[in-house]
Amino acid sequence: MTDDSIQRDAWARLDALASRPGVRSIRALFAADPERASRFSARLDDLTVDFSKTSIDGATRVALLDLALKAGLDMFRARLFSGAMVNTTEQRAAMHMALRSHLADHLQARDEPASAIAAAERARMADFVTRIHEGTLVGATGEPFHTVVNVGIGGSDLGPLMATEALTAAHGGIMHARFLSNVDATGAAAIMRTCDPAGTLILVASKTFTTDETMTNAHTLRQWIADSLGEDAVQHHFVALSTNTAAVAAFGIPSARMFGFRDWVGGRFSLWSPVGLSIALAAGWDAFEAMLEGGRAMDHHFRHADFADNLPVLLALIGIWHASVLGYGQHCVLAYDDRLRRFPAFLQQLEMESNGKSTRLDGSPVTRPTCPVLFGEPGTNAQHSFMQLIHQGTAIVPVDFILAARPDHDDAHAHRILAANAFAQAAALLQGKSRDAVTAEMRQAGLPEADIARLAPHRAFEGDRPSTTILVERLDPFTLGRLIALYEHKVAVQGFLWGINSFDQWGVELGKILAKGILPSLTQSAAGQHDPSTTALIVRFRELGGA
Ligand code: F6P
Repeated sequence: MTDDSIQRDAWARLDALASRPGVRSIRALFAADPERASRFSARLDDLTVDFSKTSIDGATRVALLDLALKAGLDMFRARLFSGAMVNTTEQRAAMHMALRSHLADHLQARDEPASAIAAAERARMADFVTRIHEGTLVGATGEPFHTVVNVGIGGSDLGPLMATEALTAAHGGIMHARFLSNVDATGAAAIMRTCDPAGTLILVASKTFTTDETMTNAHTLRQWIADSLGEDAVQHHFVALSTNTAAVAAFGIPSARMFGFRDWVGGRFSLWSPVGLSIALAAGWDAFEAMLEGGRAMDHHFRHADFADNLPVLLALIGIWHASVLGYGQHCVLAYDDRLRRFPAFLQQLEMESNGKSTRLDGSPVTRPTCPVLFGEPGTNAQHSFMQLIHQGTAIVPVDFILAARPDHDDAHAHRILAANAFAQAAALLQGKSRDAVTAEMRQAGLPEADIARLAPHRAFEGDRPSTTILVERLDPFTLGRLIALYEHKVAVQGFLWGINSFDQWGVELGKILAKGILPSLTQSAAGQHDPSTTALIVRFRELGGA
């Protein structure tokens, strides 16, 4: 048998399991196996992943693990950590793990000593952060920096923003952190209106240092600093986080104020790199380092644990069962933790930019659905907006619930309400409520029979809706690092099993090119050469006084 046919067999076995009658009934699985909660969960220390509320049974688990085995996931994992060129379309390694490694880990990225390169830059960052916090590195007027503005978009924004919020929400930050991503100038105006230029440090975070939105915003703030404090102040108030030394110099940022990384760090994996400087400035160096340590702990687990106990592998396989075998096209992430408010937005880029692909590595089209659409909100807010659809809508949307057992505040009562809601939502999705139960309840409440008959169909819940719960002891920086790396590796495993490249993003290019062509049409009298709908919209935009 060829490798391909072995894999085809593994997928066919999953399809056969999925076509068994009643396979989607999770309640039936619990009825048949009261020990299911412990048998279908796995742990890394306190970090518990409970997937008993999915339709994965013993046979399915074996078949999913078999798929991973037959596909050669162990070889892929070894190649990933060896710094091999896993990103074949860009001819790069994907070695973001080196950013959180120790020197002694000796990770390589193709021919480069990745651990050593990362450690050297980390030492420069640590020194810089210390001097800013001590107030020995100050602004052009001698005022200490109290505000940091991160100018960046995509991976140069979402990760730093998410982690900074997560690590500063409970206690407040050491510095005030602002994030400017969108090229909608309202954002830049708000920064200039509300920040004091003399105490503001501006980080231009851009791997390429060519991204239009970021460079437009960076130039706007550069002008603001130059106008407020003089041209000479630019070198004191700007820092570059990038791989593009020449473009940084051309912008006027001295090399001592540039923190670099290499092309083996993808944008959406870059919060561990100098791109995470805002996290360190706002939350403190110790918190940043603890987050890196958490990432490293998850790397170690992913690298060495058996697939059956390997949390990223399990999360990936659960997702594959849902998206590629059962055909569920959406995935919802509900963190019952306000500090993780931006975690779904971060995951949207991580998962959808990585695995939103339909072409396999060999150029052939995929034959199964790949990455589902990911969305989420903090619980309990989500319960009061879109959870209705997840309970009673036509689409089945698997949910990840994320919860810390211990809060970082002292309102135990509020935290118990939060936790009770997280558990209750998962339980409600599982149990549902039969029409009989609804009817009996309404009878007991004394409702007239006609009302009962009319309302019962609306008040019944199907149940058997899948969810996975990720429970941690507390959301400290170490655990945040573990969580992020957990999802990063999940994404890599899924991409591998789908046969796609998780580390490129060609799909974002076309829109960028078209925007460049459309821009002149917004100001010139001729609307330009575009499709008829776009041309009509440009004409109407100008009729309405646009540009
Ligand atoms: O357009 C998508 C993208 O390339 C992302 O992959 C990346 O995170 C973002 O743009 C920002 O890129 P850069 O850090 O180079 O400015």
